[in-house]
Amino acid sequence: MMVNDRARNLSILVLHGPNLNLLGLREPGIYGASTLTQIDAQLVELGRSLDTHVESSQSNHEGSLVDAIHTARDRHDGIVINAGAYTHTSIAIRDAISAVQLPTIEVHLSNIYKREEFRHHSYLAAVVIGQISGFGADSYQLGLRAIVGHLQRLAGDEC
Ligand code: DQA
Repeated sequence: MMVNDRARNLSILVLHGPNLNLLGLREPGIYGASTLTQIDAQLVELGRSLDTHVESSQSNHEGSLVDAIHTARDRHDGIVINAGAYTHTSIAIRDAISAVQLPTIEVHLSNIYKREEFRHHSYLAAVVIGQISGFGADSYQLGLRAIVGHLQRLAGDEC
């Protein structure tokens, strides 16, 4: 019963990494015209239709992203993360995701595999449930649906 109640009231942290505060201005040909505020508002809206509380946070600093992941442990059921360039460099963010053991979906606006070779490797890929890459702002929406579906299946299995 507790598990079912929890499944109906999920809470998800959406975490945006460096330079994503400039969405809308930043290379719109690659990242699209939507601003971060618009993306976050759409996620709250989608969350409502999925009975899921959505909270978003952005930081340009690696340590702040690590702190946000640690804090999420007691506050949220899962994470959707676009770690931006830290995807390709940050063992610290990978270790934080691994440490808190919260189901996490990695998202990217652009298709990182169609771009420069240094973007083809993700330090996060091995510790997340899955990765969504290349659908612009929709990547976040797909990521939210994916994490909610995953958590609901988990809750169902525990019944
Ligand atoms: C990104 C892809 C990264 O390679 C890049 O550094 C970003 C954004 C994306 O959403 O497509 O900042 O994560």
